[in-house]
Amino acid sequence: TQVIGLIGAMDEEVELLLGQLENKVTTVKAGVTYASGTLHGKQVVVCKSGVGKVNAAVTTQILIDSFGVSKILFTGVAGALHPDLNIGDIVISSSCMQHDMDVTPLGFARGMIPYQEVSDFPADQSLIELAEEACKELSVDHYVIGKVLSGDQFIASREIVQTLYEDLNGACAEMEGSAVAQVCYMNRVPYVVIRSMSDKADGSAHVNFPEFTVKASRRSHEIVNYMLGRL
Ligand code: ADE
Repeated sequence: TQVIGLIGAMDEEVELLLGQLENKVTTVKAGVTYASGTLHGKQVVVCKSGVGKVNAAVTTQILIDSFGVSKILFTGVAGALHPDLNIGDIVISSSCMQHDMDVTPLGFARGMIPYQEVSDFPADQSLIELAEEACKELSVDHYVIGKVLSGDQFIASREIVQTLYEDLNGACAEMEGSAVAQVCYMNRVPYVVIRSMSDKADGSAHVNFPEFTVKASRRSHEIVNYMLGRL
């Protein structure tokens, strides 16, 4: 039977999944707690990776090696880059790329990882379609299927938002998706990232980030929950 890996970076992003988990068994590896159990009758492993690409990469590889997951869904919040996106709106990853990979002094385009074929890691088409179905069924008023940009930076400037949107075509900015995507790509494991917008990445996030993070996490969780019922 298949095992599905579910990752969030922060407590708010995984606590709803953990609350629903039946027959829970926990294991700690490299400082991260992996909670195995069943959700909607599906065998899943839920974990909080911690923030940033290194945490996300290690967690993803452990999910694959030690728990044998055959699909990975990431749930969480992000800063909106696409001008049509408002707080609470959803981005379904078409692909993920690292915006802080920068070897431009050697002539590589921004975001390109030198000497390898793929730097913009495509998400799984059937998981994208299922996420879109979830948005429609749950009457999410606004969602975008677009590129998720990750970097080890909290984006908080209108100027940076503009370059990430215009130069790199990003729909939203966060700090883990591309690491999950790259590790999934290296291991041939299908993935999708679902992000609900907690802020507009323009420097106003500190005002109400905690409040919007709780609300946006709930949004993202609803979608993942719908998807789990149908995987
Ligand atoms: N996660 C939520 N908001 C973010 C932002 N503005 N930048 C990076 N990661 C985020």
